[in-house]
Amino acid sequence: VTRDVATSAGDARSFRFTLAVRFTVTMAAAVVAMSVGILLAMKNRLDQELDASILAVASIQAASVTDAPSGAMHFHEWELTPDEAASVRELIRYAQVWSEDGMSLLRSQFMTSDLPLDRDALAEAGGGRLVWAEAEYEGNPVRALYYPLERLGAAHRRHVLQVAAPLRARNRMIEQMLVFFTGISILVVVGTWFGSWWLAGRVVRPVHEIIDQAEEIGVGSLDRRISAYADMSEYQRLVQVLNTMLDRIRQAFDAQRRFTADASHELRSPLTAMWGELEVALRREREPAEYRAALESTLEEVQRLSHITEDLLTLARSDAGALTPSPEPTDIAEIVRRTVDRLRARAEGKGVSLAADADDGVVTHVDPHLLSQVVWNLTDNAVKFTPPGGCVRVGVHARAGRDPTRIEVSDTGPGLGPEPRRVFERFYRHDQARSRAPDASGTGLGLAIVAAIAATLGARVEARNLPERGACFAVILPDVGAANE
Ligand SMILES: Nc1ncnc2c1ncn2[C@@H]1O[C@H](COP(=O)(O)OP(=O)(O)O)[C@@H](O)[C@H]1O
Ligand SMILES: [Mg+2]
Repeated sequence: VTRDVATSAGDARSFRFTLAVRFTVTMAAAVVAMSVGILLAMKNRLDQELDASILAVASIQAASVTDAPSGAMHFHEWELTPDEAASVRELIRYAQVWSEDGMSLLRSQFMTSDLPLDRDALAEAGGGRLVWAEAEYEGNPVRALYYPLERLGAAHRRHVLQVAAPLRARNRMIEQMLVFFTGISILVVVGTWFGSWWLAGRVVRPVHEIIDQAEEIGVGSLDRRISAYADMSEYQRLVQVLNTMLDRIRQAFDAQRRFTADASHELRSPLTAMWGELEVALRREREPAEYRAALESTLEEVQRLSHITEDLLTLARSDAGALTPSPEPTDIAEIVRRTVDRLRARAEGKGVSLAADADDGVVTHVDPHLLSQVVWNLTDNAVKFTPPGGCVRVGVHARAGRDPTRIEVSDTGPGLGPEPRRVFERFYRHDQARSRAPDASGTGLGLAIVAAIAATLGARVEARNLPERGACFAVILPDVGAANE
């Protein structure tokens, strides 16, 4: 069993793959955005804290730089050896006092060299402003503040205090966070990919199982139904739709099978009859009258065969959609009258009264040949099934307004039985014995043809039993006549 149905269509995209990709991309974007946001906020916070500490140190040192009674400048600092200074080097703050022209006046006692001096920053600070700068001191990055001592009084002239803090700890922290968030992002992306791939697989698995089951249903097993996931709300409808489609296919198949069997049977009976009659006739020499009788009876069978074949062909054309109407303005009353005239002799011979009740001038846009066939089949049936003494009426009604044209054929015959609609089935004969009555050349296809023609004309045919006795067929033509007026 192949699970890879999606790729069997060549360049069809895989739903599973698409889903997994979209999910992963979304997750990755979210995680990266979050990481960047957190990193930026952290960096901001670290910088703020560092600056605050530098500023605090600067203001303390600036206040104390000249408070010695001797007036000599010195910093208030721990007495740190360079070794000790190295051991706390990340928390340490370097301080140095510069004269206006860049001469070092004083620096922290543990420093072995001058802080890097930015002349522009010095000049600006000399002008009385706090200036921030970044530089390198002894190979390490530092952040420095130029603090104008002028703030403390004119005695300091334009001397500037520079306080610097190593950036190593802050940089290392940011680097670690970066590594951490990159790792988390990779983990999340990989995890999301596998997770969503697995989840999407589970989501599409029912579809594959339904497909597998559907694939196993063939012509020979049209009774089988799809049972997979029929109880899961998301797939219930899909399974239902497939199953009802299978129902329809099976019904159509059964109908077709029955039709073929019935047709073969109908064709075989006259052939068997002819075979027998011809064999008997040929068994010995006969009088001309006997040959004549044999030929006449075979002619009847040939006529019957020809009728059936004709009917079958009409139905086959209709099934194939080849029964195309060519509509033209048609006088319905005219068609009804002509049909009645053709059947009058037969009706009278049988003692059935036949009457047409047609409003004149009912002209509709319809195929006259197909419509005559419908009227003929209905009236022929009515005459055929009505016993002597009964009557058949064919009426045409085009009632006022937009009511569609309606042709009604009613009789006083035996009626259509408990299920009137069944008469439209192919080869349906309500009562085998009756339809084989002497004038019944019926094949059981006449009304099936009526239904097929009506469908191509866009018309509706109704069949019902009349309250007292007899049947009534109504053909309701589509509403084109009214639209044309
Ligand atoms: N007017 C009618 N009155 C009673 N039964 C009818 C009438 N029309 C049709 N039927 C029933 O419907 C069956 C099918 O009719 P149809 O398709 O025309 O076949 P056929 O005329 O060849 O028997 C008939 O055999 C008959 O049993
Ligand atoms: Mg008939």
